[in-house]
Amino acid sequence: MDSKEIRQKFLDFYKERSHTIIPSASLIPEKDSSLLFVNSGMFPLVPYLLGEDHPEGKRLADSQKCFRSDDIEEVGDLRHTTFFEMLGNWSLGDYFKEEQLNWVFQLFTEYLELDPERIYVSVYRGNKEIGIDKDDESVAIWKEIFKRKGIQAEAVDFAEKDGMQGGRIFYYPDKENWWSRAGAPENMPVGEPGGPDSEIFYDLGEEHKHHENSPFKNEPCHINCDCGRFIEIGNSVFIQFLKKEEGFEKLPKQNVDFGGGLERLTMISQGKTSIFESDLFLPIIEKIEELSGLKYRENIKSFEVVADHIKAATFIIGDERGISPSNKEQGYFVRRLIRRAIRHGRQLGISKNNWLKEVAEKVVSIYEEVYPEIKENSSFVYQELSKEEETFKKTLERGIKEFEKMKDKKVIDGESASFLYQTYGFPIEIIEEMATESGQEVDKEGFYEETKKHQELSRKLSAGAFKGGLGDHEEETVKLHTATHLLLSALRKVIGDTVFQKGSNITSKRLRFDFSCDRKLTDEELKKVEEIINEAVEKDMIVKKEEMDLNDALKICETASFKEKYPSKVFVYSVVDSEGNIFSREICTGPHISKTSELGKFSIKKQEASSAGVRRIKATLN
Ligand code: ALA
Repeated sequence: MDSKEIRQKFLDFYKERSHTIIPSASLIPEKDSSLLFVNSGMFPLVPYLLGEDHPEGKRLADSQKCFRSDDIEEVGDLRHTTFFEMLGNWSLGDYFKEEQLNWVFQLFTEYLELDPERIYVSVYRGNKEIGIDKDDESVAIWKEIFKRKGIQAEAVDFAEKDGMQGGRIFYYPDKENWWSRAGAPENMPVGEPGGPDSEIFYDLGEEHKHHENSPFKNEPCHINCDCGRFIEIGNSVFIQFLKKEEGFEKLPKQNVDFGGGLERLTMISQGKTSIFESDLFLPIIEKIEELSGLKYRENIKSFEVVADHIKAATFIIGDERGISPSNKEQGYFVRRLIRRAIRHGRQLGISKNNWLKEVAEKVVSIYEEVYPEIKENSSFVYQELSKEEETFKKTLERGIKEFEKMKDKKVIDGESASFLYQTYGFPIEIIEEMATESGQEVDKEGFYEETKKHQELSRKLSAGAFKGGLGDHEEETVKLHTATHLLLSALRKVIGDTVFQKGSNITSKRLRFDFSCDRKLTDEELKKVEEIINEAVEKDMIVKKEEMDLNDALKICETASFKEKYPSKVFVYSVVDSEGNIFSREICTGPHISKTSELGKFSIKKQEASSAGVRRIKATLN
């Protein structure tokens, strides 16, 4: 089945069940919005989920263009993209769990012909603190559904160390099975709708477990662990709650909000294990193979970055509300996508002039029937891509030369990074990527301090982002930042005061920490580090912030690592227990959470050598 057929089957299935098919909304939010891009099918329907009547009725379905900048780091893992199409159906106070779960299963197994034996599901575990029960109702429905296919479905409570537990249905907590644009319940702003959800996963087979780059190596597998074996293909959200000052209130209507990624469904349906090998990407990948003379499977990361980023840029520039590359808001995302693609193209040895256009032509040809706007706007798209290519190519080679002059620096300091940005137009993630490739680090905080212009932009983005759903991301990043302080302190307790910070990089999913140490840590040592941190979390220590003169701060902070670069007044963050004992103290610009109990469970996922005398740890919070 090709992607067109799958998309059409989905829409026809719901049409036959009295749904009105609505067109995809623009990728750029219509009204003043704090989110820069539409990131889900429900986004344009929020007023109706809150209770307004939709002119097309109570049953709707569509295929919506979505862009998630949060997933940019994940591109390169065969299954994540920044641009994707979300197949969606909605009940606005009409049908509920029974119909939704039965229909989606019927659609997947009978119309899209997925093997029911390979399907697993998750449900909401409940949360007493917010007074919302576990979703036994969905469990009962799922059991019936599986039974009809002759599958005995056990429901199990997810526990990380216990792996599959012979389960088919898994209860997960807020983080996995509650959906709102802002993520988990505690991250939702007042006025935001959300609710428990039930996700569907597909088992790609044992052989895909713990793929080469997986940070989950050697851990028990469960359906939501992202180790490579299971892939999420659909999510039914039961939007029933509204966040109020005092807690949650029932919405006037019980809604269903379903979303499933077309790229993933197509991949499975076509028997592939990378979405980039499905027909929604293959012509693009083949074009890149032709331009570079290289093979996708031997250069996965760069191929996926080029293919995804040029597709996303084509859709954003070619949108009804098309956006050109610039240094502002959405335009800056377009610029970063294109520039990163250009550098990865260079890595692949593509040297032809105006090659972005050739890739974008493939994007247009794949989608022109479904999204005619990108065909109509194609000359504008090609023109903007060519302009950006020409501009960046002029500075790219010179910038790379300048970067190479910095090869003796272990850490690219803020000033140097800012120089590459200001003079050669290198966005920070390109600088970071180049640094990683040559075993260096970037002082990102220093970069933001130096690059006032950029800082203003990032402030604007993060300040305005919360309401629209990036709040979750911000929150996770802040937690991991505090966890990084605990990690440094724990490492010093276990290994000694020769440990200093050598670099740090945090995404919403994990922290990465480099520190001075010239040997591999033993398993016992790693375990001890985890224990010390988790004890500090359990003790619910407070995080205190004080402003001080640099000289005073240096006297009390043994961990200060880049002394010369601090301004004369600094903030000192201390993690302190209830008896006033200091667990960690560091000079830092923040931000941090205020109590360690907010962190959750700390686990080390990986240790490796970073460069001579420097070790690297990757860790997550759950
Ligand atoms: N709105 C839900 C999601 O994006 C369906 O996962």
